Amino acid sequence: MILLTGGTGTAGSEISKALARMEVHHRSLVRDRAKAAASAGEYVELVEADLSRPETLAAALDGVEKALLLTAASPEAPQQERDFIRQAKRAGVRYVVKFSAYGASLNAPHFFGRQHGQGERELEDSGLAFTMLRPNGFFQNFLGSAASIQSRSAFHAPAGGMKYSAVDVRDIAAVAAHVLTEPGHQWQRYTITGPEALSHTEIAERFSQVLGRTIRYLDVPEDAAQDWLLAAGMPAWTAEKLVDLYRYYRSGAAAEVTNHVERVGRKAPIAFQQFVRDRAAAFAGPGA
Ligand SMILES: NC(=O)c1ccc[n+]([C@@H]2O[C@H](COP(=O)([O-])OP(=O)(O)OC[C@H]3O[C@@H](n4cnc5c(N)ncnc54)[C@H](OP(=O)(O)O)[C@@H]3O)[C@@H](O)[C@H]2O)c1
Repeated sequence: MILLTGGTGTAGSEISKALARMEVHHRSLVRDRAKAAASAGEYVELVEADLSRPETLAAALDGVEKALLLTAASPEAPQQERDFIRQAKRAGVRYVVKFSAYGASLNAPHFFGRQHGQGERELEDSGLAFTMLRPNGFFQNFLGSAASIQSRSAFHAPAGGMKYSAVDVRDIAAVAAHVLTEPGHQWQRYTITGPEALSHTEIAERFSQVLGRTIRYLDVPEDAAQDWLLAAGMPAWTAEKLVDLYRYYRSGAAAEVTNHVERVGRKAPIAFQQFVRDRAAAFAGPGA
């Protein structure tokens, strides 16, 4: 049995769908079965547990051979990962695929990279077989700017002129599904990127081409970006760490383009224009 954590979230839900398309039965660990009902299906069984309460994990892990460990971005993530890995080992799980992040390491210059670095180290030291999935920023993060693109035909970020190789979560899911279901991926660390490194100005041009109206990118200072995220209701911890992530992006370190989507996910990577086309309704202006 394969167990997914985070299977109701942005990336995990696509991983679950990718496994279902391959007709692979799997189990999805959810906090609230009723709330998660829509994510159940012919190939997906739900099990209730909470990564912050390790005593709830034994039932979820019963009979599991392989697990995808995806934790939400939160201050608790390293502890949740530590507890899950220990419980998984105790339950006889043989292989853990960790959903990590681009550039993860104990000494990464960005907070999320260091946090994932801790989880990776815990897994490496556990004696379990592992694969690290290290995706770059998701295309889907731009859905957070959909209201601004709709109403003001603009989006803003403290991105400067940097280029980064953001990726569609459907491509990350394709890689994850193959890694979870076929041999040959143990001990690998896959940096997963989109097909090209783009600046935010180039991203605005792609929005404009697909939506048929001019979309502008507004470069903003860190303070303004953080204030805007807080005003939009984002918790202070998340807003601060997101600004820290953009500082990392601005260093130009997240521009590498890899071929793991083609090689492991066995598909052509989705271009940013295609993502916008697929979600055009979310970005369309009034009256569109
Ligand atoms: N966004 C990016 O650009 C990006 C890039 C690279 C890596 N990442 C990494 O991707 C991960 C986040 O992925 P995502 O954006 O797909 O996540 P997400 O949409 O925020 O979903 C989080 C998932 O975790 C579950 N969850 C939260 N707390 C839990 C708990 N205590 N016990 C059990 N399940 C819990 C949620 O379940 P509920 O339905 O119960 O809430 C949900 O399924 C983070 O590790 C982040 O660092 C993100």
